[in-house]
Amino acid sequence: MNTVAGGKLKVGVIFGGRSGEHEVSLVSAKSIMKALNPDKYEVIPVGITRQGAWMVGVKPDALLEYGKSGSRSCLAFNAAGGGKASLNCDPSNKGLMLLDKPKAENQVQLDVLFPIIHGTYGEDGTLQGMLELADMPYVGCGVLASAVGMDKTVAKRLFHEAGLEIAPYKEVLRSRFRSHPDAVISEIEGELGYPCFVKPVNSGSSVGISKAKNRESLQTALTLAAQYDRKILIEAHIDAREIEVSVLGNDDPISSLPGEIVPCNEFYDYNAKYIDERSELKIPADLSPETIEQIRVMAVKAYRALDCAGMARVDFFLERGSNRVIINEINTIPGFTSISMYPKLWEATGISYPELVDRLVDLAIERYRDKQESLSTVS
Ligand SMILES: Nc1ncnc2c1ncn2[C@@H]1O[C@H](COP(=O)(O)OP(=O)(O)O)[C@@H](O)[C@H]1O
Ligand SMILES: [Mg+2]
Repeated sequence: MNTVAGGKLKVGVIFGGRSGEHEVSLVSAKSIMKALNPDKYEVIPVGITRQGAWMVGVKPDALLEYGKSGSRSCLAFNAAGGGKASLNCDPSNKGLMLLDKPKAENQVQLDVLFPIIHGTYGEDGTLQGMLELADMPYVGCGVLASAVGMDKTVAKRLFHEAGLEIAPYKEVLRSRFRSHPDAVISEIEGELGYPCFVKPVNSGSSVGISKAKNRESLQTALTLAAQYDRKILIEAHIDAREIEVSVLGNDDPISSLPGEIVPCNEFYDYNAKYIDERSELKIPADLSPETIEQIRVMAVKAYRALDCAGMARVDFFLERGSNRVIINEINTIPGFTSISMYPKLWEATGISYPELVDRLVDLAIERYRDKQESLSTVS
């Protein structure tokens, strides 16, 4: 389906960005660009710097160098006519506009975009909103699912409504914590007890997350989380194995075999995720056939509950002792490096990495066409 008459489909892979997961995004983008079939696709790299500037034709490694040194000379543009650009939000002119080129040669036409920016301004619906305004097909979830997927408490409410089990939790505004710290702490102690997890509601990569074991560490944990978001989530600690499932599709999503994360630290914190190589991914997870089926069904339920499209990774806790399956969160732009859980789970389920990126592009176009069928106020 995904070919255009008279040539290859032009896929803009958008990477980098302003979040703390900038580097992970570069590695994900490199793997994706390598895997897009060159017979079918012309790949146009679109890098976003840490400051938010868009660069067409810049390779992820060059963007990384640029980030380190801040020197513009590191930007080796590989596409003829590359350079600083902005997305054209005029739907009649699909693609990017080069900012430093004369009008006659400043258009970079694109057929579909593949955003692979994790976290803030990439995974949270803001970028997706821009792509909607530009009327471009793009890989992955739309505005709503992306935004809700980033907001851990709104997502929890929807999971709960869909019949999925969630950890007992409480949400506190940082303004209230700052004005009434003792009252907030006493409420948490009464409602959840210790140990508990404290997180910024909008977070990723475990940034700003702590496990609090007593009043003093709870105070520190709340203060830390309050630095990252105006809403703070406090959750009961679940003694559990961490199980993840990949989901793929639009209206008829499918789920992969589950995998297991075995963190090398007390919990899967930033260090255990990205730095210490002793954390392990077990693919597939060693689970009974019944639990595998249960978790796969739950993953699709969670995906539908947030109205996801394209892809998402759904993360669960499998409580030790009771074997209860509790949903933790959904990631709408999961890590996508060649060794990341999302593509690895698909490989274990029978979909290779190149086939996966191919399907994602197909799904982007399918969703775009589906949307075009709906009447809008402008005709
Ligand atoms: N309620 C909880 N009980 C036990 N461990 C938790 C709990 N919440 C989070 N964790 C640990 O913290 C890690 C990061 O939390 P998570 O909510 O997944 O945030 P992020 O979006 O940053 O990945 C989890 O992978 C897990 O190891
Ligand atoms: Mg997580």
